[in-house]
Amino acid sequence: MSNLKINMNNHGDIEEALKSQTLRVCIVGIGRIGLPTALLFAKSGLNTIGVDINENLVQNINSGIYPLKDEPGIEEIFNDVIKNKKFSATTKIEDAVSNSDLIVLSLPTPMDENNIPDYSALRSVATKLSEILSPNSLVIVESTIEPGFIEDEMISTISESGRLKIEENFFIGVCPENANPGEILHDFTNLPRLVGGINNHVTKMIKMIYDFVFSVELVEMPNCKTANAVKLTTNVFRDINIAFISELSLMFEKLGIDTMQVLDAAKKKYNFQIHYPGAGVGGPCLPINSYQLLNSAKRMGVKLSMIESGRKINEKMPDHVVKLTSDAFKESNKPLQNSDILILGVSYKPNVKDIQLSPAEKIIKKLQNLGTNVHVYDPYFPSENVFGIKVEDNLDDILPKMDAAIIVTSHDDFKKIKISSFAKMKNPILIDTRGIIDPSSAKLEKVIFRGLGRGNS
Ligand SMILES: NC(=O)c1ccc[n+]([C@@H]2O[C@H](COP(=O)([O-])OP(=O)(O)OC[C@H]3O[C@@H](n4cnc5c(N)ncnc54)[C@H](O)[C@@H]3O)[C@@H](O)[C@H]2O)c1
Repeated sequence: MSNLKINMNNHGDIEEALKSQTLRVCIVGIGRIGLPTALLFAKSGLNTIGVDINENLVQNINSGIYPLKDEPGIEEIFNDVIKNKKFSATTKIEDAVSNSDLIVLSLPTPMDENNIPDYSALRSVATKLSEILSPNSLVIVESTIEPGFIEDEMISTISESGRLKIEENFFIGVCPENANPGEILHDFTNLPRLVGGINNHVTKMIKMIYDFVFSVELVEMPNCKTANAVKLTTNVFRDINIAFISELSLMFEKLGIDTMQVLDAAKKKYNFQIHYPGAGVGGPCLPINSYQLLNSAKRMGVKLSMIESGRKINEKMPDHVVKLTSDAFKESNKPLQNSDILILGVSYKPNVKDIQLSPAEKIIKKLQNLGTNVHVYDPYFPSENVFGIKVEDNLDDILPKMDAAIIVTSHDDFKKIKISSFAKMKNPILIDTRGIIDPSSAKLEKVIFRGLGRGNS
């Protein structure tokens, strides 16, 4: 049962609870973002409990097994707060929520196979909160949501049981997370955060708490929906710009222009923001965020044609990678069918272990449909099964058995591979979709080379 004593709408109560470290925190959803968030709350001295439906994850965390090996700096914090018992995990949301003052939701907001945003985790937790949230608690939603989701859905769902009334005995706000996987600790302690509450007073309460925990610039928003609009705008800006430069790079290829040289020079102009072309845009953020805004537009009867086009371009890029590959095979006079092709990198972005919506999946499927034998090497997944293929664990052993290699992800490790290693392939063909190979060095080693967007290669 709850023994809440802190009124999360009262400035003095919160201030005192932070000072005396008596504010009790519950983070629901302790994945890529939620776990580091929980750990920083615990590091600030606040008793923090993490809730997750993933029993294995909860068990591992409570046994001191740290899950996010690709996030530098966080494991030390994990070890400290587990040792000093400031943090633990549970699958029992009822106990954790009812014994907390602050509930932070870091639940997944993916999309379904028709690109429709899926808010089922938030919806189901909101329904639970309506039964179990203690009066005078504060709920902060960090998940990425469409503008208006708090105002139009979360509040009415949490109020459903009739026990809780917004602005009277429960309070809600958002603080959309904008950290980059692989750099989460750095971003948590450096990047400004957006704070939007159900009213200005709640915004100030959230600011006080996040200032205590993160000490970063906290940007006050007029309401929840504006904060969520900013979060989506910044990410969709990237999705569209990557589409723009990817589309342009296809024409530069035909014109005999190297897009990397264009970008190197273009970035010297003070107001040019560099984005790179590539095999496609994946991950749990950019593609979904574009579809979230498209979903909002549909509801509002508005057309967002630029986002639509951007998505189409980014989703077609894997086709172009396959086309470059088949062109290179034609040049080598070797059939594509039955060839052995190595995919270098399955993560959707460099230096992280994450394959969510990775363009590598589409490239692999398309190549398999063309009758090729696809192999995978990715230093983040040695010997694991990814997209139905067992990942190789030794690059030097596998390369000489390959006809071609395709760099899909620009992991730092791949930048260190010598061109002479690629030259040892049977054919040898090298496709670089990320602009990390110098085309002239490939030529010198007599490697048949195709660089995405690199017209003079
Ligand atoms: N990963 C990123 O790069 C990133 C960056 C910024 C913002 N975000 C946003 O943060 C949110 C969380 O993303 P993430 O990458 O941490 O997701 P994640 O999938 O890594 O973690 C989500 C966790 O929630 C758990 N979960 C699912 N349903 C649950 C439920 N009903 N009750 C309790 N736990 C439940 C899952 O088991 C998982 O451990 C999303 O809205 C995402 O868009 C992600």
